[in-house]
Amino acid sequence: MFALGPRVVISRSAIAGQKAVLVETLRVLKADETQKRHVTGDIISPGQVLGIEHLRDPRLNKGLAFTLEERQALGIHGLQPARFKSQEEQIELCRISVERYQEDLNKYLYLTELHDRNEKLFFRLLSENIERLMPIVYTPTVGLACQKFGLIYRRPRGLFITINDIGHVYEVIKNWPEPNVKAIVVTDGERILGLGDLGACGMGIPVGKLALYTALAGFKPHECLPIVLDVGTNNQTLLEDPLYVGLRQKRTTGKLYDDFVDEFMEGIVKRYGQNTLIQFEDFGNHNAFRFLDKYREEYCTFNDDIQGTASVAVSGLLASKRVTGKNLSDNKFLFLGAGEAAIGIADLTVKALENEGLSLEEARDRIWMVDIDGLLAVDRPEGNLEGHKKFYAKKHAPIKDFAAIVQEIKPSILIGASAAAGAFTPEILESMASFNERPIVFALSNPTSKAECTAEQAYFNTGGRVIFCSGSPFGKVVMGDKTYYPGQGNNAYIFPGVSLGVLLSGIHHINEQIFLIASETVAESVSEDDLARGSLYPPLSSIKECSVNIACRILEYAYQERIASVYPKPKDMRKYVESHQYNYNYEPSLPQTWQWPNPPYIKTKPMEPIKLKA
Ligand code: NAI
Repeated sequence: MFALGPRVVISRSAIAGQKAVLVETLRVLKADETQKRHVTGDIISPGQVLGIEHLRDPRLNKGLAFTLEERQALGIHGLQPARFKSQEEQIELCRISVERYQEDLNKYLYLTELHDRNEKLFFRLLSENIERLMPIVYTPTVGLACQKFGLIYRRPRGLFITINDIGHVYEVIKNWPEPNVKAIVVTDGERILGLGDLGACGMGIPVGKLALYTALAGFKPHECLPIVLDVGTNNQTLLEDPLYVGLRQKRTTGKLYDDFVDEFMEGIVKRYGQNTLIQFEDFGNHNAFRFLDKYREEYCTFNDDIQGTASVAVSGLLASKRVTGKNLSDNKFLFLGAGEAAIGIADLTVKALENEGLSLEEARDRIWMVDIDGLLAVDRPEGNLEGHKKFYAKKHAPIKDFAAIVQEIKPSILIGASAAAGAFTPEILESMASFNERPIVFALSNPTSKAECTAEQAYFNTGGRVIFCSGSPFGKVVMGDKTYYPGQGNNAYIFPGVSLGVLLSGIHHINEQIFLIASETVAESVSEDDLARGSLYPPLSSIKECSVNIACRILEYAYQERIASVYPKPKDMRKYVESHQYNYNYEPSLPQTWQWPNPPYIKTKPMEPIKLKA
């Protein structure tokens, strides 16, 4: 059998036996599911999608890149203009088309339409223009797309499972048309980016993340499934919005909600198997930690807001060692914020410190945290030290004023994950510069308007000595004759590569060491040039390479620790990884052995391409 694509299968015997005449008339199969598919008599088996349906299938469609032979054999000759184009020419046209839109949301819609029309073109365009297009298909534009979801929703992408489906969740999962799903990104829409509860409109997030799975790690698109668990929304504006497309009711909570999520996890494993990777995304803080703790030993799962963020932040910390010349354990850490992101970073930092030889207690001792109620202090009157927070609570008098806390603790590393805009004031930054030769400041809160300080403020208030990174992108900063290009701690450096490594090695449970391996791998990819320019991260354009490197390192670790379940062990990890990646380039639509009984009946002269003007 020749497999041309996921749904296109041509039997060898059908071709070999067919040196005879091409059956001229197309017959339309009736009365079954292939009703709309046209098949040519004996030459091509019924699995082959022909005629206009071939052009309408985004996986098969190559637009004007179909050759004359393909057009004729597939029954699409005459359904398109005469011109033939290469994929490169098409990419150039797409690039120009995106830029013609003034508003980012319109660029997003153009790309969505391209995704729906021609999958390979969309993913090649995205993967070759990641710096330019990631902010459109993912943050920040995807946030806007979620807010306008009711308005821009056109055609289905992803699975919506509602709380009303409880008891029948597996049946809903069975409706998904793909039999080989390997990676799922799921949200209940309660905390979409920094935008709060967007209910079912949160679907843009799993869709965007999985587009990055393919563009950055080479996951095959049909192996990825975006899911929204629609349990209602507490967003009153959405509940009153006539355009809202989700369940119009308050969020279900408590046991019913938990039973629903349990049933979802069981349903996924029942349909797609125990090794299906389930990435939790943008759940509310209280549920995110709970589900991670509850499911991590039973399912192949991780939470990107907690673990992905932690990994990318620790990667920045590891890279900073090459600038300061210090070990991580030589530092004192102060966090502003003690939520999903901050606690995740603190926990992984502890692991990194332990790897440097500190005990668990010594490592936690080096980390101070401040939340909305002030310093995490054992005896503070507000309490609010539940979960992992208690590990970082110090025996210290309660204190709330952040500037005073900085003065008192004298940290060498300041990490903001509080969404408290401007909380790193000029005074605080000056203090950092007064007791550190090279102060390290991470302002990780998103979007840009929520950052604890801007890149410019960080450089100007520390005399340019700061080692800075942010959660949202900042432009270059010019100070005198020096120009800095601060890096962005983007989770996209981490999650595609981690998922790739986990799936290819068949790891059942994703432990913290795996995220630390990812941090180290990204930190090692940072060049001396990157550091000299002021960036703790490699250029975004190198993420694809980072993903493969991370996957290879995870594979090595998995076999060494005997937690891999794919055997035999691959001899060459890189080749093994690359052999499983999606090919963004067009492939022939006819089998190599295809032979026409006669040459195509219409001749054409190649037309020289004319350079496009933007
Ligand atoms: P969260 O809601 O779980 O935690 C926020 C924390 O900040 C809480 O501990 C809260 O008490 C504290 N806080 C709020 N206002 C404060 C104030 N004025 N002073 C001191 N503490 C205050 O939120 P989460 O998920 O931890 O996200 C926090 C920020 O980090 C968001 O802006 C988010 O966009 C960003 N983030 C960045 C990522 C990245 O750079 N890769 C990834 C994930 C999140």
